[in-house]
Amino acid sequence: MDELQKIIRRRRTSKPVTFSGEVPDPGLVRELIEIARYAPNHHKTEPARFYLLGREKIGQVGKLFGAVAAGDGSDPSLVEKGKRKEQEWSSCPGLLVVTCHTDQDSDLARRYTDLAREDYATCSCICQNLLLLMESKGISSKWSTGPVWKHPEFARTVEIASPGTEEVVALIFYGYSDAEIPPRPLTPLKDHLKDFS
Ligand SMILES: Cc1cc2nc3c(=O)[nH]c(=O)nc-3n(C[C@H](O)[C@H](O)[C@H](O)COP(=O)(O)O)c2cc1C
Repeated sequence: MDELQKIIRRRRTSKPVTFSGEVPDPGLVRELIEIARYAPNHHKTEPARFYLLGREKIGQVGKLFGAVAAGDGSDPSLVEKGKRKEQEWSSCPGLLVVTCHTDQDSDLARRYTDLAREDYATCSCICQNLLLLMESKGISSKWSTGPVWKHPEFARTVEIASPGTEEVVALIFYGYSDAEIPPRPLTPLKDHLKDFS
């Protein structure tokens, strides 16, 4: 089987708690982001924005996630969960936030009502490209949409460039992991394919 097929099948979501403390080279991650951007993009809007966080901001985002998970503090089990989440997220070696920028007031958005949906599709392709590129370099990852972005301090903490017109697509946690994750079994293709060939 060729290399691309192997990587696609091998990539699995990894739990950040299994990541070692080693931080993947930010220069390498920047290169992977550059390659990942070559995804199909209707209207060539280049909608993806990237926020490559370092130690300090990862810790701050972890704290915010802990606060979101803890809720209003009245439920001890949620407070406990908040502590766990903060610890898990804060100690992650790498975190990349990917957002989708679509200006709904632009002429293009007025002309193409599907623009935001299609921009989001492009950003999703870019995220998958990134996960596969990371996998190809031995970097494990997890795509999360954990609700930390709902925290009122999130946009300021990550320094989101246009908070009003950017939507979080993925928080990509990454690092090195020895955990062996078996391939994910899928239902048979024939259940999902009408083949008229
Ligand atoms: C859009 C999107 C959002 C996701 N959000 C989360 C999340 O918030 N928390 C989580 O544990 N996993 C999240 N995942 C990972 C999925 O749970 C994972 O892909 C799925 O369980 C299949 O496992 P696999 O990636 O190992 O094949 C997300 C994946 C996608 C594509």
